[in-house]
Amino acid sequence: MLESCPALHGVAFTLSHLLIFHAFCTKLVLTIILPKMCICSYFSTPSIDQFNKDAGTFPVATNGQPFPWHELRLPTVVTPLHYDLFVHPNLTSLDFVASEKIEVLVRDATQFIILHSTDLEITNATLQSEEDVRYRKPGKKLTVLSYPAHQQIALLVPEKLMADLRYYVTIDFQAKLADGFEGFYKSTYRTLGGETRIIAVTDFEPTQARMAFPCFDEPLFKASFSIKIRRESRHIALSNMPKVKTIELEGGLLEDHFETTVKMSTYLVAYIVCDFNSVSGTSSSGVKVSVYASPDKWSQTHYALEASLKLLDFYENYFDINYPLPKLDLVAIPDFESGAMENWGLITYRETSLLFDPKTSSVSDKLWVTKVVAHELAHQWFGNLVTMEWWNDIWLNEGFATYMELISANATHAFKVSDNFFLDLCFEVIKRDSLNSSRPISNQAETPTQIREMFDTVSYNKGACILNMLKDFLSEEKFQKGIINYLKKFSYGNAKNDDLWSSLSNSCLEGDFTSGGFCYSDSKTTSNTVSIDTYRLEEIWYITSPRMMTTWTLQKGIPLVVVKQEGRSLRLQQERFLSGIFKEDPEYLWHIPLTYSTSSSNAIHRHILKSKTDTLDLPVKTSWVKFNVDSNGYYIVHYEGHGWDQLITQLNQNHTLLRPKDRIGLIHDAFQLVSAGRLTLDKALDLTRYLQHETNIPALLKGLEYLETFYHMMDRRNISDVTENLKHYFLRYFKPVIDTQSWSDEGSVWDRMLRSVLLKLACYLNHAPCIRKATQLFSQWMESGGKLNIPTDVLKIVYSVGAQTTAGWNYLLKQYELSVSGAEKNKILYALSTSKHEEKLMKLIELGMEGKVIKTQDLAALLHAIARNPEGQQLAWNFVRENWTELLKKFGLGSFPMRMIISGTTAHFSSKDELQEVKLFFEFLKAQGSHLDVFQIVLETISKNIKWLEKNLPTLRTWLLASI
Ligand code: BES
Ligand code: ZN
Repeated sequence: MLESCPALHGVAFTLSHLLIFHAFCTKLVLTIILPKMCICSYFSTPSIDQFNKDAGTFPVATNGQPFPWHELRLPTVVTPLHYDLFVHPNLTSLDFVASEKIEVLVRDATQFIILHSTDLEITNATLQSEEDVRYRKPGKKLTVLSYPAHQQIALLVPEKLMADLRYYVTIDFQAKLADGFEGFYKSTYRTLGGETRIIAVTDFEPTQARMAFPCFDEPLFKASFSIKIRRESRHIALSNMPKVKTIELEGGLLEDHFETTVKMSTYLVAYIVCDFNSVSGTSSSGVKVSVYASPDKWSQTHYALEASLKLLDFYENYFDINYPLPKLDLVAIPDFESGAMENWGLITYRETSLLFDPKTSSVSDKLWVTKVVAHELAHQWFGNLVTMEWWNDIWLNEGFATYMELISANATHAFKVSDNFFLDLCFEVIKRDSLNSSRPISNQAETPTQIREMFDTVSYNKGACILNMLKDFLSEEKFQKGIINYLKKFSYGNAKNDDLWSSLSNSCLEGDFTSGGFCYSDSKTTSNTVSIDTYRLEEIWYITSPRMMTTWTLQKGIPLVVVKQEGRSLRLQQERFLSGIFKEDPEYLWHIPLTYSTSSSNAIHRHILKSKTDTLDLPVKTSWVKFNVDSNGYYIVHYEGHGWDQLITQLNQNHTLLRPKDRIGLIHDAFQLVSAGRLTLDKALDLTRYLQHETNIPALLKGLEYLETFYHMMDRRNISDVTENLKHYFLRYFKPVIDTQSWSDEGSVWDRMLRSVLLKLACYLNHAPCIRKATQLFSQWMESGGKLNIPTDVLKIVYSVGAQTTAGWNYLLKQYELSVSGAEKNKILYALSTSKHEEKLMKLIELGMEGKVIKTQDLAALLHAIARNPEGQQLAWNFVRENWTELLKKFGLGSFPMRMIISGTTAHFSSKDELQEVKLFFEFLKAQGSHLDVFQIVLETISKNIKWLEKNLPTLRTWLLASI
């Protein structure tokens, strides 16, 4: 693990060290003591002579000698071309010995090579010139200096390396298999027979390859890799490429040699030593696809194989580029920190992101597996083939992969659900982006912790939503053409934002001709619509221009478009949308591709809003106008004057005149505007009344989501009159739909999703028929010794109701230990976390900390679930505060789980006292040197909750009284 407790100090040290360093560096330049030696500059490298002369000005290596490099990023003087890597993990002694030979190109003469290396014991390092290699001369010994604060080593050469020559660096090293989830780490699983087995697996992104082998661990340093793994015969070894041969060694050990990889970044290298089984198939283009899992879980691998074969075919066609490797393995790893990792040719997954068990996996579990497989496969092109130059643009990987989930799942699967999931993805990031503490999509990130923090909803969701908005304006066809251009142009290389924009704006289709940088379509230029089409083409050119796109990528936040209808004229105004506070900030300006339809024309009209205010003239006066058609744009719309009333009237009279995704968008925007104090809560609630007649399930679910959120908020604060009335309201208005739900897995994907949500809420609200049915199913299940098959979509509900008695809870915990289905285990763990007994909740936390029955990988989700339970919220929060150091030993500071633990146990608070407590704790952490973006996000969220309650609780009360 990168940042276990001692390393946390390392990170704190890194940050403060950087500050000191910059001050120091400026001083150097200012005082012109050493005019040629601005080591701050990325491009100039101090020469070894300066290094000797001014040794005192350099950082100090572990042996007390000066370390010749100041910067966190590596110099570009020496670049890697190829790595020969040999690794021999010992799964009994839990360590590995390894060696590597790196072929490097020297661009400028130098006397040292700087590499990344963390916690590796280097036993020998030598250097050969090309001539040495040709004549088999032994290498010259290198002095190795280590500077742990920057996770770097320096190899000092006795004689200067010459510019434009190649050299070979051989390094022998060893280390323990890591304890956490990063670098080359050990993972364990229990067989059905009760035996514990160990496997060794890598996980490198973003900066952990350096924990497994010394390397140039930055995405720009692409090289090829030839990997050899030594293992026992009871194991297999897997790596990015197929095996070429296996050599038998004395003593029964085997050595697998893998084919050389294509040119790639270090964070995508992977290898695994395990005893897993697999299922395989071949894609249309002849790629062998295999899905691996531990032997007892082998039967759960089939769905992922089917999905990945379909998706691979789809992507090869869509990108018009074949997957370049001969094979693709997908492996379910028993201990995994995130959801999955896209290593080229060897994708690793958390078990619940890959395995599908027909008996216990629900429809949403299946969608999740599909989504994760689609996401990681998309990375084989976006990320692996073309990589961002630096981590500041990680959205080029993650935003694209997230966007492609939508496109590929829509195209390859019977269920057309991704559109609506996509909307939720955008709604999720809007919550974050409408806080002051948000950040731009492209953001500076230098330290490993800062880099890790870039993997957040802004990179993933906002990135994807912006791409979707762009696609909507460009047309699907042109957008696809543009990304094909991008992928082809930068294959095996790196790219930055502007490269994407220029590829997209060059996305002329075949048959188009170009002139002055624009694409013109033959058929259209000859028709009499020429002026309109030229306008449209110029528009396309404009919206893919950096001038427009940087308003989305370099500026944080989401715009609010305020529309005022005055006769035929629409007055438009834009500002930054901030929830919680109302603050006009003139700094912000977006170029917004607007779309709208009106009561008299459901055609999609377009207009780019480039200034603060603008006016549009409609051909006729209309009763309403709806902006952001299908909610494809990344902006919120407020209708001033009678705008909202007209839309509410329309929804009540005939909601089908508005498109389903527009209805969802209206519900969303209305409640967002309530948070920002722009719309009253009763108006937003009035808007949802039409839901009684809504048959579109995603729209219904959106409305229910808000009611549920309010219920949770009130329940946590024990505001019982409101919770009671919310419950009555829900059970009365949704009675017809609740009553028609069956306890089965029948129907379309949406029928099944609605069933899960409605019944879960009904049972949560203690609706007697729901509790009765769930109790009955639970008893039957217990009596059958856990053998009875309960419909998968209601399984979690049945377990949760069952967990409310001590006998049921204990039985569930026993079944948790026995189950070989990750999907079932997740459901049981959730159910256990809903208990009203503090001692039971505490027991769960203890088990999670111990990491045997409840794995450490599930601890963050567990704490989050317990904190959602009104009975557990204080317990979880106290636990996190009191055990912070222990938690830090398990997860890195900026890692997914740590951020989830922090926000999951605090962000729901809604009182001033709680805010104060959280603030104090964060201040304490900051004083220890821990700085995370999530601190500010949480504080702002709590302040927002407090304001929301102050302002809206009385309105909610009155509205409910009038409505039930
Ligand atoms: N590249 C990421 C894995 C990753 C996450 C590396 C965080 C470093 C830090 C991978 O492609 C990914 O995005 N995984 C997601 C799942 C996905 C379906 C959203 C994850 O792990 O949650
Ligand atoms: Zn990803």
